[in-house]
Amino acid sequence: MGNTIRLLILLLIFVAMGDGARTNMPTSLYTRSVVDGICKTMIETQGYTCEEHKVTTKDGYILSIQRMPKGKSATKNGVKPPVLLQHGLMMDATTWLLNSPAESLAFILTDNWYDVWLGNTRGTNQSQGHTSLSPNDPAYWNWSWDELVAYDLPATFQYVYEQTGQKLHYVGHSLGTLMALGAFAQKEVTNMVRSAALLSPIAYLGQMPSPLARSAADLFIAEDLYWLGLKEFSLGGEATSKLVDDICKTPNINCTNLMAIFTGPNCCINTSKSYLDHEQPTATKNMIHLAQMIRGGSIAMYDYGNSGENNKYYGQPTPPKYDMASIPNDLPLFLSYGGKDMLSDVKDVQTLLEKLKDHDPDKLVVQYREDYAHADFVFGVNAKQVVYNPLMAFFHLH
Ligand SMILES: *[C@@H]1O[C@H](CO)[C@@H](O)[C@H](O)[C@H]1NC(C)=O
Ligand SMILES: *[C@@H]1O[C@H](CO)[C@@H](O)[C@H](O)[C@H]1NC(C)=O
Ligand SMILES: *[C@@H]1O[C@H](CO)[C@@H](O)[C@H](O)[C@H]1NC(C)=O
Ligand SMILES: *[C@@H]1O[C@H](CO)[C@@H](O)[C@H](O)[C@H]1NC(C)=O
Repeated sequence: MGNTIRLLILLLIFVAMGDGARTNMPTSLYTRSVVDGICKTMIETQGYTCEEHKVTTKDGYILSIQRMPKGKSATKNGVKPPVLLQHGLMMDATTWLLNSPAESLAFILTDNWYDVWLGNTRGTNQSQGHTSLSPNDPAYWNWSWDELVAYDLPATFQYVYEQTGQKLHYVGHSLGTLMALGAFAQKEVTNMVRSAALLSPIAYLGQMPSPLARSAADLFIAEDLYWLGLKEFSLGGEATSKLVDDICKTPNINCTNLMAIFTGPNCCINTSKSYLDHEQPTATKNMIHLAQMIRGGSIAMYDYGNSGENNKYYGQPTPPKYDMASIPNDLPLFLSYGGKDMLSDVKDVQTLLEKLKDHDPDKLVVQYREDYAHADFVFGVNAKQVVYNPLMAFFHLH
């Protein structure tokens, strides 16, 4: 049965990409005009206060960010510490809001006296603005996570820092951890960080056991020119949503299993919710960059594939590496990883920890959960007890 599901997912990816190719337009099937933001649809509906903000990056992308300035019970007075939550690949800020307020990190933090800010990377539904490009322009999708490190994260940090006048706590999940690790290694934003919690940390992907991700990586690399021509990568178009629905209705296959194929056997997510409905588009170039990491096992900038092109962009024949050992040793870090995670594999996390071996011991907290897979860190119904309470205790120290 495992193979059947694997085939279905591959089919799904092909259909998603095929749609873009057939219409001969690198556009997604989403409605481009976003009527209601995340505040209205996900936060105010739960009775919480929320503000929509816009941040423009140095390369012109206009990002939406949401602020939850106060929790339901205002018990204290004084200044709240700001915390920025940064979602993972093909997700957006709804990541932190999909479970009930008692289970979801954004609500939990706001109810525990934090000034909560939610980031949305370029290309997601909420952040498709640009000063001169439209998402229908191929050039809009000309980026990988290098640009998230160099532009999205610094712009968002700077904005929250200026608005609050304070250094930030940070929480990243998955790609949101890679963005932070990349930025910290380049000494970007480190002057604005109070501490950082990295859930399902991703830096090295060479050991990833997810068979689907590995075969997708091979496909991407083998055919990268073809895929690059499609610019935008999304699983969520109408045709694919229907396909997902149909797959989920098939006996023996449910969406828990579907998600497990990508992320590992999540122990603790709510099986009556369809988290996959919230999948967001990303750039195909970003997927190729991740595929290069799975293939090569190192953490480096986007590889243009030959020394001539690399020379053009980087002034050297191979892409520059992000040096994890150059993350400031006194930057407080909380790393939480799971024994069942197929994207942030235990061996890969250990490679990262090895690079951080000179980190000040009292500035590094590492948490390992045997039973957790990738999505449990954000969707686990017991994540408050397992991860968020220790995370808040860690924030409290810094
Ligand atoms: C993207 O935004 C449109 C318009 O607001 C909405 O209909 C659609 O459901 C959104 N898609 C996702 C995956 O959030
Ligand atoms: C993509 O961006 C690079 C700079 O990073 C630029 O040299 C190249 O021409 C761009 N390609 C397209 C198709 O916009
Ligand atoms: C879906 O799969 C999970 C375990 O993989 C199982 O616990 C759950 O009952 C299944 N749901 C349905 C509707 O079959
Ligand atoms: C799971 O989700 C359903 C539907 O949103 C909800 O009614 C239920 O209370 C949730 N269960 C838990 C344990 O959070």
